[in-house]
Amino acid sequence: MGRVFVAGSINMDVVATAERHPKIGETVAGRQVLYFPGGKGANQAVSSAKQGVPTSLIGRVGDDAFGNELKAFLGSQGVDLSLVKETPGAHTGTAIITVAKADNTIVVVPGANARVDADDVAAASLTEDDVAVSQFEIPLPAILALFERARAAGAATILNPAPAMACSAELLDLVDILILNESELGFLTATEFSGTGNPARLVEAVRSLSTGDKIVCVTLGERGAIALIDGQPLPIAGRKVQAVDTTGAGDCFVGAFAAQLASGNTIPYALAYANTAASICVQRMGAGPSMPTAAEVKALLSAGRPPRADP
Ligand code: RIB
Repeated sequence: MGRVFVAGSINMDVVATAERHPKIGETVAGRQVLYFPGGKGANQAVSSAKQGVPTSLIGRVGDDAFGNELKAFLGSQGVDLSLVKETPGAHTGTAIITVAKADNTIVVVPGANARVDADDVAAASLTEDDVAVSQFEIPLPAILALFERARAAGAATILNPAPAMACSAELLDLVDILILNESELGFLTATEFSGTGNPARLVEAVRSLSTGDKIVCVTLGERGAIALIDGQPLPIAGRKVQAVDTTGAGDCFVGAFAAQLASGNTIPYALAYANTAASICVQRMGAGPSMPTAAEVKALLSAGRPPRADP
């Protein structure tokens, strides 16, 4: 079995729940304030570790109470923290999240995450069985350095370009598997998607990102996902569940997928597995604590719940 190395953000999510999201300039009454471990990198690392795959997180926290709490949580989930640094003079990354009717809005204040650099990834000793994962909540030079090391070692690389931002062709060339949602796909391909999903348009946009051998997978929430593998579209059927909070569902997908890849499973199996894992995640409040265990995912897979038809 290989290992998963995730370079990414570690945040405390400060969550306000409300009946609906406020409009710009409007105040609405909330219901609860909740604190959850989060950050796209940390969430993906937890998702992977909970599948029973050795998982190391590369990132930074501040030397403050949030940092200590987050490290305690991540350690308790089985994530290796030997490559997580405390950064004096910086606060731990904090996300201010509003959740209403299962959907969220997020403002991230990066703090220590913005100090992750190429030296931080230098201690990651990757081999060809390993999988390197990153997202866009840490500086791009650190991601580039990780993927260069991974490529040199023959390890697979997974990029989740979230939140969407422009990046170099040099970085994209180092990516083996790109996993993104519709809004990130829209940003990277300068295309508008309505969210109702015209599969042909999605495939066309995905195809434009799938240079070389790159596998591209767009996640579609309750509509499942579509991947392009060797030029062939592979739809992954959605699972109809009662969502309470979609925060971290994409991270759950990415981490579970990476873990399956590191375990030697095929890409189609890993995608179906990740889709099932994410359908469990959305039924729980919070990001980090909502990641399912391998037993939970396998129980659902073996129950063979009939998947929904097309995305
Ligand atoms: O993807 C969800 C995550 O985005 C949250 O946990 C929040 O911290 C932001 O990074």
